[in-house]
Amino acid sequence: MEDYLYNKYNIPVPRYTSYPTVPFWEDDFANKVSWPQLVRDAFQTMEKKEGISLYLHLPFCESLCTYCGCNKRITTNHGVEEEYINYLLQEWDMYLQALGGKPVLKEVHLGGGTPTFFSPDNLRKLISRLLSTVTVAQDKAFGFEGHPNNTTRQHLEVLFELGFRRVSFGVQDFDPIVQKAINRIQPYESVESAVLNARASGYEWINFDLIYGLPFQKEDSILQNMEHMKALKPERIAFYSYAHVPWKAKGQRGYSDDDLPSDTFKRGLYELGREKLLEMGYKEVGMDHFALPEDELFKAYEKGELNRNFMGYTTTNTDINIGLGVSSISDIKSAYGQNEKLIPDYYSQLDNDGFPITKGVLVNQNNAVIRSTIKNVLCNGASVISEGIRSIMTTRQWDTLLDIEQDGLISLQKNHIQITEKGKPYIRTICAVFDPTVDITAAQQQMFSKSI
Ligand SMILES: C[S@@+](CC[C@H](N)C(=O)[O-])C[C@H]1O[C@@H](n2cnc3c(N)ncnc32)[C@H](O)[C@@H]1O
Ligand code: SF4
Repeated sequence: MEDYLYNKYNIPVPRYTSYPTVPFWEDDFANKVSWPQLVRDAFQTMEKKEGISLYLHLPFCESLCTYCGCNKRITTNHGVEEEYINYLLQEWDMYLQALGGKPVLKEVHLGGGTPTFFSPDNLRKLISRLLSTVTVAQDKAFGFEGHPNNTTRQHLEVLFELGFRRVSFGVQDFDPIVQKAINRIQPYESVESAVLNARASGYEWINFDLIYGLPFQKEDSILQNMEHMKALKPERIAFYSYAHVPWKAKGQRGYSDDDLPSDTFKRGLYELGREKLLEMGYKEVGMDHFALPEDELFKAYEKGELNRNFMGYTTTNTDINIGLGVSSISDIKSAYGQNEKLIPDYYSQLDNDGFPITKGVLVNQNNAVIRSTIKNVLCNGASVISEGIRSIMTTRQWDTLLDIEQDGLISLQKNHIQITEKGKPYIRTICAVFDPTVDITAAQQQMFSKSI
């Protein structure tokens, strides 16, 4: 990676899991709109008949991994499980009423927190009750996030019986020094045994989450991680950049900035990991993701059919994505809404028979055009530059796009943008050109003045 390009384009831009991005959502959204009416309208006018997607946020974890930026609640009291499940089901009942009809369910994702904090019996109770209220799509896609330290054979089997075929294990890093710093002691043997159990139970694909840029991470840590990937061969690997947000994730104050790799060293860790993954036969898919060539994520990418939502990259493409549980986000195409972030607030909204949605935003026509261009670039590395997006781009945005072309990161034709190999590491920055709320030139000047 050239230093010139890195210094110019490695600027802080959103991850674009939504457009408008979360900082532009309205705090008093819930008071301004009728969320159930929006949901009903979206369901009745839904273009894609393949069904809806459900994300369930299961927030509890037994111990705090200090690096973690997710919405979680640390407790060893498993008495909380039943109460939480009852509230989740109550929220789902409200959605069923709002939808006004029995939905076809295409995708379920259990995220967290730690879904496998919940006992297999409680997960069975939750999922079977949900499934009894829907028509399950023939080609359903059900998956869950499992912590390798507490995903038991029983968890895997119960969820398999209920239709789950995908499991994503949080691995992060195998280096004992890194694990100690992030308070996540997870020996290779426990990951290996989780993988063997998943394979023996019949799971079709396994994903690993790995992170680069963690405290005390060295090149040797990445090399060792990749050797383990060679042995365990998960179908997919998410190789995330560590997000350091200590003002939000207070656990990250457990180590100091000096313990973190420098920007340049972090970039080297990514390049090393990427090189090893490509050598092993993994293919790069969109941003931060790698998949084996026979995996359907890569096949969808090749066919230009990859999709991206709050659950990350997916092969399904549903218009209605409902998020249940504390802090969950729903995307119903015409609007986004986010649930209360604290468990007591989430419970008390439901106690008062209200939807627990707080902030959110309506997606107007211009925003829909920007969203679809950004999604195309993120998912396919290319997009048509439609009349719609042309008509709303400013001279400043065009100038930036032409500058990026000059640097060889994209090729531009009359109505089309294609990211080049050289441009792949900067895919987010390239997307940000279409986002009128980001001024790339100003951000570059700010970075430049910080570095001198
Ligand atoms: C909810 S967690 C995974 C499930 C389960 N709780 C576990 O820890 O195994 C989701 C993923 O978010 C990623 N993540 C969490 N905090 C992060 C951070 N600060 N920077 C980058 N990725 C992060 C990790 O890769 C993690 O596996
Ligand atoms: S990484 Fe997973 S287990 Fe650790 S605190 Fe975050 S959500 Fe919980």
